[in-house]
Amino acid sequence: MTTLPTRRLGRNGPTVSALGLGCMGMSFAYGAADQDESLATLERALERGMTFLDTADIYGPHANEELLGGFLQGRRDQVFLATKFGFVTDPANPGARTVSGRPEYVRSAVEGSLKRLRTDRIDLYYQHRVDPNVPIEDTVGAMAELVAQGKVRYLGLSEPSAQTLERAQAVHPITAVQSEYSLWTRDPENNGVLATCERLGVGFVPYSPLGRGFLTGAITDTGSLSRDDFRLSTPRFQGDNFARNLELAQQAKDLAASKGCTPAQLALAWVLAQGEHIVPIPGTKRRKYLDDNLGAVEVTLTADDLARLDAVFAPGAAAGERYTEAGMAMIGR
Ligand SMILES: NC(=O)c1ccc[n+]([C@@H]2O[C@H](COP(=O)([O-])OP(=O)(O)OC[C@H]3O[C@@H](n4cnc5c(N)ncnc54)[C@H](OP(=O)(O)O)[C@@H]3O)[C@@H](O)[C@H]2O)c1
Repeated sequence: MTTLPTRRLGRNGPTVSALGLGCMGMSFAYGAADQDESLATLERALERGMTFLDTADIYGPHANEELLGGFLQGRRDQVFLATKFGFVTDPANPGARTVSGRPEYVRSAVEGSLKRLRTDRIDLYYQHRVDPNVPIEDTVGAMAELVAQGKVRYLGLSEPSAQTLERAQAVHPITAVQSEYSLWTRDPENNGVLATCERLGVGFVPYSPLGRGFLTGAITDTGSLSRDDFRLSTPRFQGDNFARNLELAQQAKDLAASKGCTPAQLALAWVLAQGEHIVPIPGTKRRKYLDDNLGAVEVTLTADDLARLDAVFAPGAAAGERYTEAGMAMIGR
C-alpha cells in the first residue's frame, strides 16, 4: 500500500495530503446518510494519510460540520480542516438560497462553524460563492480579520472569476481556489482561473473531481438515485443529456480497463496530472470507495493517455450544464 504523497497548497501555503476527502455527501445532496459508515470512512482516511477534510456550513445545513466536530474530538491536530461560508438559507423556505459576503455576516458565520466543528480554529476558510452586492475587498477584509484573530489560518474562494481572485489577493494572500474541475468540467482551463492561480501562487482544489460520481461509471441509470438526490436537478443528469454523457463514461471505462485501473482512479489521476498545485477532494461516505480513490496516486498517465482523454473529454464534450440556470448564475462572479 503506497503512502499518500503530499502537495503544497499554493506557493507559500501549507502542505496537505495530495488527495483530500470531500465530506459533503456524508450528510447532504447524495442520498441517505449512514453515520456509522461515514465515521468509519473518516477514520480510514486518517489512517491512510488523507488528512485534508472538506466541509461547509451549508452541507446539511450544519449536519456535516457537526459530524466532523464529533469525529475530530481528540484528533483535531491530525487534520487540515477546510470549511466554507456564504450560502444563506431561509428557515421558512429551505429550498431557496441567497449569498452573503457582508463583513458582519462573515463575522457571525465563522462563530457558527467553530461551534459546530468544536474547534478554536479553521485551517482554511473559503467564501463559498462571491456576493455580487459586496465588493470582494470588503469580504476578504473581514476574512483577513479572522486570520489576525487566530480563528482562521488560511483563506480561500470557491468559484470566483480570475478578476475577483486578483482583487482578493491584493487584500490578503489567498491560499486556495476551490472550483469544479474534472474530465467533464474543464471550465477553469478556459476562464483563466487555473492560469491565474498558477501565476499568483494560489493552490487549486478541484471539487467534484469524479463528476459527482458519474465518471466512476457507477451511475448508469438515474433511476438508481434517490428522488431528492441533488444530481437529478442538474441538466447533465437529465434525459438526452444523461444518455449522451453515458457514451463519454463508457470511453473512460474502456481506457481505465486498458490501464488496469478503475475509472475513478483514472479520473483522479487525470486531475492530479494537471499540475503540482492541484489537490482534488473526491467525495465519499464509504470505505470501499475511499480505498479505490486512494489508488489513483499509483496510476501514471502517459502523454498518449492524456491525449486520448483530452480528445474524448474536449472542453464542451459533456452534454448539459453542471448546474441549473440559477446555480450557474452564481459561478465566476
Ligand atoms: N465548493 C463547492 O461549491 C462544492 C460543490 C460540490 C462539492 N464540493 C466539495 O467537493 C467534494 C467532492 O465533490 P462531490 O462529492 O460533489 O463529487 P465527486 O467527488 O466527484 O463524487 C462524489 C460521488 O461519487 C461517488 N464515489 C466516490 N468514489 C467512488 C468510487 N471510487 N466508485 C464509485 N463511486 C464513487 C460518491 O458515492 P457515495 O456518496 O456513495 O460515497 C458520491 O456520490 C464534496 O464532498 C464537497 O466537500 C464543493
